[in-house]
Amino acid sequence: TPRKDNPLYALLEQAAAYYRQQLRQHPQRQRAVGYLKGRGLSGQIAKLYDLGLAPPGWNNLMSHLARDTSEEKALVEAGLVVENADSGGRYDRFRDRIMFPIRDSRGRVIGFGGRVLGDEKPKYLNSPETTVFHKGQELYGLFEAKQQNRQLEDILVVEGYMDVIALAQHGVTNAVATLGTATSEDHLKRLFRLVHSVVFCFDGDRAGRQAAWRALNAALPILEDGRHVRFLFLPDGQDPDSMIREEGTDAFRRRMSRDAQPLTDYLFRHLAEEAGADSLEGKAHMAALALPLIEQVPGSLLRRLLRQSLQQQTGVDLDEVVPASLPEQPPS
Ligand code: UTP
Ligand code: MN
Ligand code: MN
Ligand code: MN
Ligand code: MN
Repeated sequence: TPRKDNPLYALLEQAAAYYRQQLRQHPQRQRAVGYLKGRGLSGQIAKLYDLGLAPPGWNNLMSHLARDTSEEKALVEAGLVVENADSGGRYDRFRDRIMFPIRDSRGRVIGFGGRVLGDEKPKYLNSPETTVFHKGQELYGLFEAKQQNRQLEDILVVEGYMDVIALAQHGVTNAVATLGTATSEDHLKRLFRLVHSVVFCFDGDRAGRQAAWRALNAALPILEDGRHVRFLFLPDGQDPDSMIREEGTDAFRRRMSRDAQPLTDYLFRHLAEEAGADSLEGKAHMAALALPLIEQVPGSLLRRLLRQSLQQQTGVDLDEVVPASLPEQPPS
């Protein structure tokens, strides 16, 4: 039986239209427009990513979209309005923020991210999980990347909304972001249905390095032969947005082709460092750490090459290895 279209889609689309309109018409729109210009974004790119403005105030969206209590409750279901559990009072979730519509790969709005214009906290607010919004599966910017590329060759995975948009502003139109969550196996399966090569480029900070190691762990179980995963580590304090604005498109592309390391290089380098593999004790430890990771790789050719390489690097007979694991939070 055909699945009935969830009514939340229409509501979310109306909300996106409202926020878009506010960025063009609200009396205080100049502050938001100035903010976006200050971050180097053109009107054209703002339009492409359908950026909007949630004006200050507690019930702008609600009074625009809901005529009665049942319509207010639908906005709660959509994650656009918050209902106070004690008082039952309802108010707009997104206030005084730049709005980023999040679309599924078919282009339907499924949620929003909202950024403050200043330094207030939290910097970003995201829609909660709803019946149409599942953060562990969706990738921000994937629909827009498909729109801008007839045929995607590879996909760049970054941390933030602004990274995706700043890259697109500079002509790098194949970036997507996870939605404030770790990269999941689901994310990667989705990407490898579209391309055979994925490059992770997270922020050059401790959180970014930890996200990279977690992404490696999510990627191992789906590394069929012929799939390529690489990691580009940025200098300390940079993210893809700041980096491409600082050095420009050509230098950023050169950096990608020069510095992005294959997953397997990163894996061995990281474990060699963690295990202290310049001693015999360290080599034994490295073999114990690496083997259980390598065994997760489904690609049989790659798995065999990894075993050979590990054996050469450590001098250990892998049949004698007792597997070990790193603590959850890798010391960076
Ligand atoms: P960052 O703090 O690196 O954001 O968080 P950013 O994109 O570089 O921010 P600005 O705009 O340039 O200052 C990366 C991502 O983590 C999520 C968002 O998805 C953000 O894009 N995040 C971050 C949140 O969900 N909430 C927060 O308060 C901060
Ligand atoms: Mn960060
Ligand atoms: Mn940033
Ligand atoms: Mn960042
Ligand atoms: Mn490390």
